[in-house]
Amino acid sequence: KFIEVEENISQECRDIISGLPREEGWFQNSLYQFKGFWDQAWLIQGALGFQKHFEARDDDILLVTTPKSGTTWLKAILYATLNRSNFPPNSHNHPLLTNSPHMLLPFMEGSHQDNISRDRIDGMASPRLLFTHLPYSSLPESVKHSSCKIVFLCRNPKDNFVSLWHFANKIRPKTWGTLSLEEAFDKFCRGVSPHGPFWDHVLGYWLESLKRSEKVKFLKYEDLKDQPVASLKTLAHFIGHSFSQEEEANGVIDNIVSLCSFENLSNLKVNKDGELPFGMAAGAYFRQGQVGDSVNYLSSESLEKIDSIAEQKFGPHGLKF
Ligand code: A3P
Repeated sequence: KFIEVEENISQECRDIISGLPREEGWFQNSLYQFKGFWDQAWLIQGALGFQKHFEARDDDILLVTTPKSGTTWLKAILYATLNRSNFPPNSHNHPLLTNSPHMLLPFMEGSHQDNISRDRIDGMASPRLLFTHLPYSSLPESVKHSSCKIVFLCRNPKDNFVSLWHFANKIRPKTWGTLSLEEAFDKFCRGVSPHGPFWDHVLGYWLESLKRSEKVKFLKYEDLKDQPVASLKTLAHFIGHSFSQEEEANGVIDNIVSLCSFENLSNLKVNKDGELPFGMAAGAYFRQGQVGDSVNYLSSESLEKIDSIAEQKFGPHGLKF
């Protein structure tokens, strides 16, 4: 029923995955556990290419997220912030009005499948805004050793799980049937989720942000929701593109927040009906955009279970959700 190894996978990657633990995927394909993290074969192949070929520049900005933590939103915010002098956020021809945020930042593991896409990334003008889901331990050495900035986004595990479960059921081929909440919950808690274990993915960036706060900015979806303007000011400063007092007085920050809001983006035609590469419908990335929705899906026992894993994994390192 599940695709074990996708077409177009190189022999090198086939050899690697043939000895790896495998589990049924949430959507698209099987998941393989490679260097501690679960991923689809084509993304393992892309990660190997990214590690091997990518040369970070000191002014690169690399966005990293756990899937369903608000990637779409933060892609839009970073793009609008970085390009605000060319495209004022209240302009009628802003690229975000006609492009899915996913089309505006290259996906590094997706792009390192072939030479043409790789060359396109090498040819991008600086500062480059790039995106990956890879765990910290799998980032290319040049990312770790250059002065490029890493912006990491995650979300409280309960909402993250519920969002992922909805997403999986939206995009799974119909022939696979529905992924039950119980099965998904068991997988998520065991760490078997795309780019998971969620716990280790988040912890890797958390620990690095404690060690090198000038290099890794650790953001939470809940904080962005609660204080979008203050979060955006701090974020712009971190990536070296602070807002001037004049911009602030002219409402540039507020305009970026409005442009990138759930209400605005989710109602654009391109985000409702658009098709994305890798077989995704743009609309699948918008559902509700709220904090705390997990209480509507999970029993108190399940909520407590996630809280207790989070406490065990994150508590000793001072990370709370
Ligand atoms: P929900 O399923 O809880 O609604 P990702 O972009 O990482 O795939 O995450 C998707 C989640 O972010 C979904 O959460 C989606 O609705 C929410 N989201 C998408 N765009 C958003 C926006 N502009 N503001 C806030 N949340 C947004």
